[in-house]
Amino acid sequence: MIASVLPTYNRAPLTFVKGESSWLIEADGRRFLDLGAGIAVNALGHAHPKLVAALTEQAGALWHTSNLYHIPKQQELADKLVAHTFADTVFFTNSGTESCELAVKMARKHFFDAGQPERTDIIAFEGSFHGRSSAGIAAAGSEKMTKGFGPLLPGFKHLGWGDHDALDAAIDDKTAAILIEPIQGEGGIRPLPDQCLRGLRALCDEKGILLILDEVQCGVGRTGRLFAHEWAGVTPDIMMVAKGIGGGFPLGAVLATEAAASGMTAGTHGSTYGGNPLGCAVGCAVMDIVTDPDFLPEVSRKAGLMRQKLEGLVAAHPQVFEAVRGAGLMLGLKCKAPNLDVVNAGYAALIVTVPAADNVIRLLPPLTLTDDEITESITRLDRAASAIETA
Ligand SMILES: Cc1ncc(COP(=O)(O)O)c(C=O)c1O
Repeated sequence: MIASVLPTYNRAPLTFVKGESSWLIEADGRRFLDLGAGIAVNALGHAHPKLVAALTEQAGALWHTSNLYHIPKQQELADKLVAHTFADTVFFTNSGTESCELAVKMARKHFFDAGQPERTDIIAFEGSFHGRSSAGIAAAGSEKMTKGFGPLLPGFKHLGWGDHDALDAAIDDKTAAILIEPIQGEGGIRPLPDQCLRGLRALCDEKGILLILDEVQCGVGRTGRLFAHEWAGVTPDIMMVAKGIGGGFPLGAVLATEAAASGMTAGTHGSTYGGNPLGCAVGCAVMDIVTDPDFLPEVSRKAGLMRQKLEGLVAAHPQVFEAVRGAGLMLGLKCKAPNLDVVNAGYAALIVTVPAADNVIRLLPPLTLTDDEITESITRLDRAASAIETA
């Protein structure tokens, strides 16, 4: 008999009932160090007092009206995002997938309105992940996600990661945009080198097409900058955001330049819950914290410490680990042992990590992780690796 919860997940035998900063408490009382943060969602850890206060204050005032009316917290959050990024305008969603939908629609509408309706194609990349909607799976293109769900949304081309020659050849007069994650998350923590991102920007400018960045996983401070593309010194035309921006409350956004968003006039897009008062109140609190001038340098400092210790861990366990990869606190351990074995050994050592493709485990801790917790993470990962070696 089918489970009452549709069985689309292989869940670990863990039931967390409480969260405290970087810690998750299991129903049986065990305390797990959380290096998954709900897959890069709990960017400020669990139950951050400022986020709890923002949410409860808004909950006591007003939960929902509709985008038929002005929503003060939505306006405030949009203003903050515009002030701190390349963007001129923001649409709020409830998830990364929903942000993907709008990013694709926005790019197509941009060219439709510009008198180039044939420009509908989006160039995306092997190993990418953009969500589970029809546009999201078509964008990622992998058989794992698309098999059985055809006919797929047309208009997506897929290129190999780092295949520069194919990229140049793939752009034609039907191309609307390039869609890429600055650091692939699900794909195994694969960073796009800064010079490649700069090259993509230049190529888009040369060909007159749009650059869409998916910063759903790597954005909102995770790499030590507010958004990962800032390291390369270039900006996109459209950017997908979600996960960290809500700190655990479902919230996403599409950020865009005025030119890219020009086709999105009244009536062209909408969302019942997108930009609701609760999500935006939390989003404002998240933005206030991550844009504090001391916050991101501290993320980078801790990321350096973590990386240094992880290099030592890899060197100490060459049968289990192969290399450290990633940027900031979006780190991956490329494994020699099967990555699921490492994740499971981590559970036994009371540490939560997240598997990814390419036999990688992801370390996406709360950005508020302390130095002591970094040391403790290494102790627990070391215990997990030793358990695999002696198994
Ligand atoms: C890069 C990226 N894009 C899009 C998504 C989809 O986001 P959501 O699960 O919030 O719909 C994810 C989720 O993991 C992601 O990592």
